[in-house]
Amino acid sequence: MTAPPFDPVARAFAPDAVGATVRLRGWVLRSRSSGGILFILLRDRTGSVQVTGKRDVLGDAAFDAAEHVQVEGTVRVEGTVAVDQRSPGGREVRASAISVIDAGEPFPIFAEQTEEFRLDKRHLAIRSQDFVATFRVKAELLRALREFLDAEDVLETTPPVLSGNAAEGGAEAFQIDYFGRPGYLSQTAQLYLEAMLAPHERVYALTPSFRAEKSRTPRHLTEYLHLEVELAWCDLAGLMEFTERMISSVLHTVAERRPNELAQLGRPPAELLAIQPPFPRLRYAEAIDRLQKAGFPVEWGSDLATAEERALTLEEKSPIFVTHFPRELKAFYMLRSADDPRTVEATDLLAPEGYGEMVGASCRETNVENLKQRIAEVGAPLAEYEWYLDLRRHGNVPHAGLGLGVERILRWMLRREHIRETTPFPRTPSRHTP
Ligand code: 4AD
Repeated sequence: MTAPPFDPVARAFAPDAVGATVRLRGWVLRSRSSGGILFILLRDRTGSVQVTGKRDVLGDAAFDAAEHVQVEGTVRVEGTVAVDQRSPGGREVRASAISVIDAGEPFPIFAEQTEEFRLDKRHLAIRSQDFVATFRVKAELLRALREFLDAEDVLETTPPVLSGNAAEGGAEAFQIDYFGRPGYLSQTAQLYLEAMLAPHERVYALTPSFRAEKSRTPRHLTEYLHLEVELAWCDLAGLMEFTERMISSVLHTVAERRPNELAQLGRPPAELLAIQPPFPRLRYAEAIDRLQKAGFPVEWGSDLATAEERALTLEEKSPIFVTHFPRELKAFYMLRSADDPRTVEATDLLAPEGYGEMVGASCRETNVENLKQRIAEVGAPLAEYEWYLDLRRHGNVPHAGLGLGVERILRWMLRREHIRETTPFPRTPSRHTP
């Protein structure tokens, strides 16, 4: 086999690399020159290393060209790895040749710019060290979720994100013109997952969900990545047990595989490794009680908004389940509790440290008449849900499911102040470009 034409930058830090010749290519993180020596911090996906180039070695033309490369310009380097305690990581590459791939224009992003400017330049801002770490953790989280679900024999399915129904109710769905008829961007894949349940019993999907809410909060996006699981033969206790196992399993996997990125972003991996099932369970009625005692003007029937969830979780180290919400607060498809018909068999899993809801889950109503009544109560057009009611008419079984907001769990895991920091191109009420 012939040697690969280029080495990863990380090769320069290998124990046997000192004295070896390497050929690198990548982006210039920063550079400066003084007294006929050029210092370039060169980055590729494996890391960054200091490259030094001397005018008398490179030649005037190559030195001058390399000297004019801007931040984020691209170069090829050939050189010898040396120990240098002053360089980041204790190594440097002494260049015998540097060739410019693209000198680039002055990079527009630097410190002390406004957040709005950085959002306008998001396509460039995502190259920062923190974003690199964030999206590596995100990829690892998605991998860990798939590994967990695969091991649990839950089948990945591919529901549509374009639909003629507004699944969670009309108000928060983005309506589109579907060849002259109304169409909607999916708010949830749940109804389709329920249809997939009869042949497969345990299914999941990872799809974007869209919410046309003008919620300008640090935890709302108008497009987010939604992991949804639907399980046949499952009750609320089983659903919570599954959810806490899934969450702790993926937290541990990510902590083991991405400790450096987590630490860089301010989350000691040990804190995620310490999270273990069972998570505390709190009935909605008890939550209202606690909030009243803390001075919140809430009563039975009040929704738990950002401030209430924050108060409930601020001192917690573990996620907590809140269960048995009043049915008026929740979606039409949730199963009424047998012991208290005012409530539904639903739970929200709240992230600790004040971050709040990251999973919404419930048992599904199986009775056709109850479903029709709830659809009428929420004012949804019954005809659009006929196909969904068919599922109850043909092979109905008790079942339950959950939806996990991927950016919500990441926001907590990575201690990000705003959820938009967990997705490369955030969609919010005020922004859908770049
Ligand atoms: O609680 P939600 O609305 O539940 C459903 O959509 C169910 N049909 C899911 C299911 O059972 N299959 O949303 C589920 C989760 C929330 O807990 C939250 O983590 C996330 O989706 N989420 C959002 N994330 C970011 N921005 C938003 N605007 C979100 N709305 C919900």
